[in-house]
Amino acid sequence: MRITDFDLYKELLAQKSGLVITPDKSYLLDSRLTPVAKKWGYASLEAMTMALRGVPDRKLVQDVVEAMTTNETSFFRDTKPFDIFKDVVMKHMLDARQGQKSLKIWCAACSSGQEPYSLAMLLKEMGAQLNGWRIDILATDLSEDILDQAKRGIYSQFEVQRGMPIQMLVKYFKQDSERWLLNDDIKRMVRFQPLNLLEPMTSLGRFDIVFCRNVLIYFNEDNKRKVLKGISERLESDGFLFMGGAETVLGITDAFKPMQGQRGLYITKGGKHDVLGAAE
Ligand SMILES: C[S@@+](CC[C@H](N)C(=O)[O-])C[C@H]1O[C@@H](n2cnc3c(N)ncnc32)[C@H](O)[C@@H]1O
Repeated sequence: MRITDFDLYKELLAQKSGLVITPDKSYLLDSRLTPVAKKWGYASLEAMTMALRGVPDRKLVQDVVEAMTTNETSFFRDTKPFDIFKDVVMKHMLDARQGQKSLKIWCAACSSGQEPYSLAMLLKEMGAQLNGWRIDILATDLSEDILDQAKRGIYSQFEVQRGMPIQMLVKYFKQDSERWLLNDDIKRMVRFQPLNLLEPMTSLGRFDIVFCRNVLIYFNEDNKRKVLKGISERLESDGFLFMGGAETVLGITDAFKPMQGQRGLYITKGGKHDVLGAAE
């Protein structure tokens, strides 16, 4: 790819999705965007690049951005955060929200749904402890195609094998030859909505728990700071943020501090977590 073409995509992706692309990844532009050019009827990738230099179709830009995003995910990804969710975070919330019996959770880059559905299954497993509670799980992503997939709740054998405990699979899915269909009662627990993390988040309301995992890793520092600031403003004062194993707030923002001994879990600076004496 010509350097000027590379620069066009570099700018477009940084601006529209926050994705940082370096010259050593230019082969990815070729392999992922050639099918987009074909789908849109361009004779070549160069022809599509020319079109993007004019006043491009909004949907074409969206397709380019979606083709370049990484949707890698799995049920109960990395296991440990879901143990912490159950044993630390929900333990706190059961006590702290006993009065209002309401809990708001946001999965901020949910991909094909495995992350919010894993949370929904864990909450379902808590059974009578949550009787009478209003639980809202909002799952958002930049990509409308991936959200459509998430809403369907249909997964391949490969997808359900990665990280899903067998008893959960048997309890919450129905097999349909090669596919696994998630039960409606779990699907109904999650609301999906498109959202670009670089755009304003105020309309979402406030949350007790936010999962923003394995997305900021692709952003530059300014965008990481911007997104974390937005999330800190959406979190209740005793709320929790989960980030991915390779992500951190250190050196980026002091709006959050890590919880000692709970990898990937953050609380807001000055956050009130009375029952968690260990918060540091
Ligand atoms: C690697 S997946 C992570 C999924 C899940 N959180 C996990 O940890 O398994 C990253 C997701 O972030 C989404 N994404 C990328 N840029 C985004 C943006 N600016 N706003 C919202 N979502 C974005 C992608 O579409 C993709 O589905």
